[in-house]
Amino acid sequence: MSAISILVLNGPNLSRLGKREPEIYGYETLEDINQGLVESFPDISFEFFQSEDEGQLLEKLFKSEDQGCFIGVIINAGALTHYSIALRDAISAVTMPVVEVHLSNIYAREVFRRLSVISEVCRGVISGFGANSYHLGVRALIKISDNFTSQSML
Ligand code: DQA
Repeated sequence: MSAISILVLNGPNLSRLGKREPEIYGYETLEDINQGLVESFPDISFEFFQSEDEGQLLEKLFKSEDQGCFIGVIINAGALTHYSIALRDAISAVTMPVVEVHLSNIYAREVFRRLSVISEVCRGVISGFGANSYHLGVRALIKISDNFTSQSML
Protein backbone atom coordinates (compact mmCIF):
# COMPACT_ATOMS: atom_id res chain seq x y z
CA MET A 1 0.00 0.00 0.00
CA SER A 2 1.44 3.37 -0.93
CA ALA A 3 1.47 6.08 1.76
CA ILE A 4 -1.22 8.68 1.30
CA SER A 5 -0.82 12.29 2.30
CA ILE A 6 -3.23 14.87 3.60
CA LEU A 7 -2.58 18.55 4.07
CA VAL A 8 -4.07 20.14 7.21
CA LEU A 9 -4.34 23.92 6.94
CA ASN A 10 -5.18 26.19 9.85
CA GLY A 11 -5.79 29.90 9.55
CA PRO A 12 -5.59 32.93 11.82
CA ASN A 13 -5.74 32.63 15.59
CA LEU A 14 -5.75 28.83 15.61
CA SER A 15 -2.19 28.97 16.88
CA ARG A 16 -3.73 30.23 20.13
CA LEU A 17 -5.85 27.15 20.78
CA GLY A 18 -5.64 26.00 24.37
CA LYS A 19 -5.43 29.58 25.62
CA ARG A 20 -7.98 31.22 23.37
CA GLU A 21 -11.59 31.25 24.61
CA PRO A 22 -11.36 27.67 25.95
CA GLU A 23 -15.07 27.67 26.79
CA ILE A 24 -15.67 27.73 23.02
CA TYR A 25 -12.61 26.04 21.55
CA GLY A 26 -11.50 23.75 24.38
CA TYR A 27 -8.15 23.29 26.08
CA GLU A 28 -6.35 21.28 23.41
CA THR A 29 -3.59 23.11 21.60
CA LEU A 30 -3.18 22.91 17.82
CA GLU A 31 -0.17 20.70 18.46
CA ASP A 32 -2.40 18.34 20.51
CA ILE A 33 -4.93 18.21 17.68
CA ASN A 34 -2.24 17.49 15.11
CA GLN A 35 -0.72 14.81 17.31
CA GLY A 36 -4.16 13.25 17.76
CA LEU A 37 -4.50 12.94 13.99
CA VAL A 38 -1.08 11.33 13.64
CA GLU A 39 -1.94 8.81 16.37
CA SER A 40 -5.41 8.03 15.03
CA PHE A 41 -4.31 7.59 11.41
CA PRO A 42 -0.84 6.03 11.55
CA ASP A 43 -0.94 5.06 7.87
CA ILE A 44 -1.47 8.60 6.68
CA SER A 45 1.31 11.05 6.16
CA PHE A 46 0.12 14.48 7.34
CA GLU A 47 1.53 17.85 6.53
CA PHE A 48 0.45 20.55 8.97
CA PHE A 49 0.53 24.25 8.20
CA GLN A 50 -0.83 27.17 10.19
CA SER A 51 -0.56 30.83 9.40
CA GLU A 52 -2.03 34.09 10.59
CA ASP A 53 -1.57 35.32 7.05
CA GLU A 54 -4.06 34.77 4.23
CA GLY A 55 -1.40 34.97 1.50
CA GLN A 56 0.71 32.26 3.11
CA LEU A 57 -2.26 29.93 3.24
CA LEU A 58 -2.94 30.52 -0.46
CA GLU A 59 0.69 29.89 -1.34
CA LYS A 60 0.75 26.68 0.67
CA LEU A 61 -2.41 25.49 -1.06
CA PHE A 62 -0.97 26.15 -4.52
CA LYS A 63 2.42 24.61 -3.71
CA SER A 64 0.69 21.52 -2.38
CA GLU A 65 -1.50 21.28 -5.47
CA ASP A 66 1.61 21.47 -7.67
CA GLN A 67 3.38 18.80 -5.61
CA GLY A 68 0.53 16.52 -6.57
CA CYS A 69 0.98 14.17 -3.63
CA PHE A 70 -2.01 15.01 -1.45
CA ILE A 71 -5.34 13.19 -1.64
CA GLY A 72 -6.94 16.28 -0.19
CA VAL A 73 -6.94 19.13 2.26
CA ILE A 74 -8.57 19.73 5.64
CA ILE A 75 -8.97 23.44 6.25
CA ASN A 76 -10.00 25.37 9.31
CA ALA A 77 -9.79 28.86 7.90
CA GLY A 78 -10.73 30.59 11.17
CA ALA A 79 -12.27 34.00 10.59
CA LEU A 80 -11.20 33.96 6.92
CA THR A 81 -14.09 31.53 6.49
CA HIS A 82 -16.51 34.39 6.77
CA TYR A 83 -15.05 36.94 4.38
CA SER A 84 -12.09 35.79 2.32
CA ILE A 85 -13.06 35.72 -1.34
CA ALA A 86 -9.35 35.27 -2.09
CA LEU A 87 -9.35 32.01 -0.14
CA ARG A 88 -12.57 30.92 -1.80
CA ASP A 89 -11.07 31.57 -5.24
CA ALA A 90 -7.90 29.68 -4.28
CA ILE A 91 -9.93 26.65 -3.19
CA SER A 92 -11.82 26.84 -6.49
CA ALA A 93 -8.52 26.96 -8.32
CA VAL A 94 -7.20 23.66 -7.00
CA THR A 95 -8.31 20.18 -7.97
CA MET A 96 -7.61 18.55 -4.59
CA PRO A 97 -10.79 17.99 -2.57
CA VAL A 98 -10.95 20.45 0.32
CA VAL A 99 -12.98 19.72 3.45
CA GLU A 100 -13.94 22.71 5.62
CA VAL A 101 -13.82 22.04 9.34
CA HIS A 102 -14.59 24.06 12.46
CA LEU A 103 -14.17 23.25 16.11
CA SER A 104 -17.30 25.15 17.08
CA ASN A 105 -20.69 24.93 15.42
CA ILE A 106 -20.56 28.14 13.37
CA TYR A 107 -24.31 27.89 12.72
CA ALA A 108 -25.09 28.12 16.43
CA ARG A 109 -23.04 31.25 17.11
CA GLU A 110 -23.09 34.93 16.16
CA VAL A 111 -24.95 35.79 12.95
CA PHE A 112 -21.77 36.87 11.15
CA ARG A 113 -20.29 33.38 11.66
CA ARG A 114 -23.23 31.65 10.03
CA LEU A 115 -22.01 32.65 6.58
CA SER A 116 -19.09 30.75 5.17
CA VAL A 117 -17.88 32.11 1.84
CA ILE A 118 -15.81 28.97 1.25
CA SER A 119 -18.42 26.23 1.86
CA GLU A 120 -19.75 26.31 -1.69
CA VAL A 121 -16.34 25.46 -3.12
CA CYS A 122 -15.44 22.83 -0.51
CA ARG A 123 -16.42 19.19 -0.81
CA GLY A 124 -18.15 19.32 2.53
CA VAL A 125 -18.33 21.02 5.91
CA ILE A 126 -17.86 19.56 9.39
CA SER A 127 -18.59 21.97 12.20
CA GLY A 128 -19.10 21.69 15.92
CA PHE A 129 -17.31 18.54 17.02
CA GLY A 130 -14.19 20.05 18.53
CA ALA A 131 -10.98 18.26 17.53
CA ASN A 132 -13.11 15.43 16.20
CA SER A 133 -14.14 17.70 13.31
CA TYR A 134 -10.63 17.22 11.93
CA HIS A 135 -10.83 13.43 12.38
CA LEU A 136 -14.17 13.30 10.59
CA GLY A 137 -12.66 15.42 7.83
CA VAL A 138 -9.84 12.93 7.37
CA ARG A 139 -12.36 10.08 7.18
CA ALA A 140 -14.30 12.00 4.53
CA LEU A 141 -11.17 12.52 2.45
CA ILE A 142 -10.23 8.85 2.69
CA LYS A 143 -13.70 7.92 1.49
CA ILE A 144 -13.62 10.27 -1.48
CA SER A 145 -10.13 9.38 -2.49
CA ASP A 146 -10.25 7.31 -5.67
CA ASN A 147 -6.92 5.68 -5.12
CA PHE A 148 -7.48 4.53 -1.58
CA THR A 149 -9.93 1.80 -0.66
CA SER A 150 -8.83 0.11 2.58
CA GLN A 151 -11.43 0.35 5.34
CA SER A 152 -8.81 -0.52 7.93
CA MET A 153 -7.65 3.09 8.21
CA LEU A 154 -11.10 4.31 9.18
C1 DQA B 1 -13.55 28.59 13.91
C2 DQA B 1 -14.83 29.43 13.87
C3 DQA B 1 -14.55 30.80 13.31
O1 DQA B 1 -15.74 31.58 13.30
C4 DQA B 1 -13.52 31.52 14.13
O2 DQA B 1 -13.21 32.77 13.56
C5 DQA B 1 -12.31 30.72 14.37
C6 DQA B 1 -12.45 29.30 14.67
C7 DQA B 1 -13.79 27.22 14.59
O3 DQA B 1 -12.93 26.36 14.43
O4 DQA B 1 -14.78 27.04 15.29
O5 DQA B 1 -11.20 31.23 14.41
O6 DQA B 1 -13.13 28.35 12.58
